[in-house]
Amino acid sequence: MKKIAVIPGDGIGTEVTNEAKKAILATNAKKPLDIELVDMEYGAEKFLKTGVTMPEEQYDDFRKNYSAILMGAFGDPRVPGNEHAKDILLGTRFKLDLYVNFRPVKLLDEKFCPLKNKTVNDIDFTVFRENTEGVYVGIGGIFKKGTPDEVAVQEEINTRKGVERIIRYAFEFAKKNNLKKVAMADKSNAMQFGHNLWNRCFFEVAKEFSGIQAKHFYIDALAMMMIRNPEEFEVIVTNNLFGDIITDMGAQLQGGMGLAASGNINPAGVSMFEPVHGSAPDIAGRNIANPVAAILTAEMLLRHLGYLQNADMIERAVRVAIQKNKLTRELGGDLGTKECGDFICSVIKSDN
Ligand code: NAD
Ligand code: IPM
Ligand code: MN
Repeated sequence: MKKIAVIPGDGIGTEVTNEAKKAILATNAKKPLDIELVDMEYGAEKFLKTGVTMPEEQYDDFRKNYSAILMGAFGDPRVPGNEHAKDILLGTRFKLDLYVNFRPVKLLDEKFCPLKNKTVNDIDFTVFRENTEGVYVGIGGIFKKGTPDEVAVQEEINTRKGVERIIRYAFEFAKKNNLKKVAMADKSNAMQFGHNLWNRCFFEVAKEFSGIQAKHFYIDALAMMMIRNPEEFEVIVTNNLFGDIITDMGAQLQGGMGLAASGNINPAGVSMFEPVHGSAPDIAGRNIANPVAAILTAEMLLRHLGYLQNADMIERAVRVAIQKNKLTRELGGDLGTKECGDFICSVIKSDN
């Protein structure tokens, strides 16, 4: 039995993860999976009650005993400093060395696209976001806090090892999938040290991949191009912060936060999967959040573990839901979170 940790977290994280679990179990009824889903309660509620975010031993437990982790989202207005999310989410990414943040941007139906005259062929690329360094390392400090002379320093860390491995992973992905273009976005015109490293490293690694076009963009121009000519892109690789920002933009190109899935991959260890969206306190607890991003995240997890048939069942069912408009309201449907999940599960159960 492979163990999968399931950590729904906060807000809509709990609602959508429940639907993702249902989808996994629905495929299991058709084609049995040798997996066990183990629920874990880490999140704001536990933090507020006990002060525990995620204990150090938990990471070892993941490394030793788990095949993958499925997360919902973390963020709660009662924890304004977001301490628990930093520990649980960023802690898991850093401590398990999940250096590849894999965020596909794929338009499933033209009707969802906010851009004029773009088809499903125009919006189909993958963002590889560096996931273990950059400005997320939490190095810095505040001097003379609360005074007019206050100074805040927030460092960005770029290591040769960290930059090179994510760039190489992006090229390897392109090669494996017969793609011909890799774009890298930095801000080396303003950040002359760290992003100069990105720039040099990108063209050095590119030399190992003849037949793949390596194209450099400044991040501002890449953001512009994502909106103007998204068909330009096949693979994008960038740093942690820029990757965070452009994947929310990418989610909109697909139809919104309710559709975007992501994987946090350690190619040599246990990986974690989560939707791109957050805990959405503005809509939490009302059964209106779109569960599709979480369900597609479950699909990604199953695919990663090699359960291709089960993953395909989920993908087909989501496509049927889209085609029949069995969707939540922000996409023009009239279903609740649970009802949308139920519909997708019913399609999975009748899949042949
Ligand atoms: P968010 O992604 O939670 O929400 C942004 C907007 O998208 C909101 O209007 C929300 O209602 C909508 N939205 C998000 N998911 C949706 C869904 N499944 N269906 C329908 N609409 C959806 O981002 P935010 O509001 O900036 O952040 C809220 C909290 O979540 C913050 O605490 C933030 O730090 C946290 N966050 C966590 C993660 C994570 O755990 N991976 C990711 C992003 C944000
Ligand atoms: C994401 C989120 C996180 C990030 C936050 C919650 C720290 O926005 O997963 O995209 O910035 O990585
Ligand atoms: Mn984000």
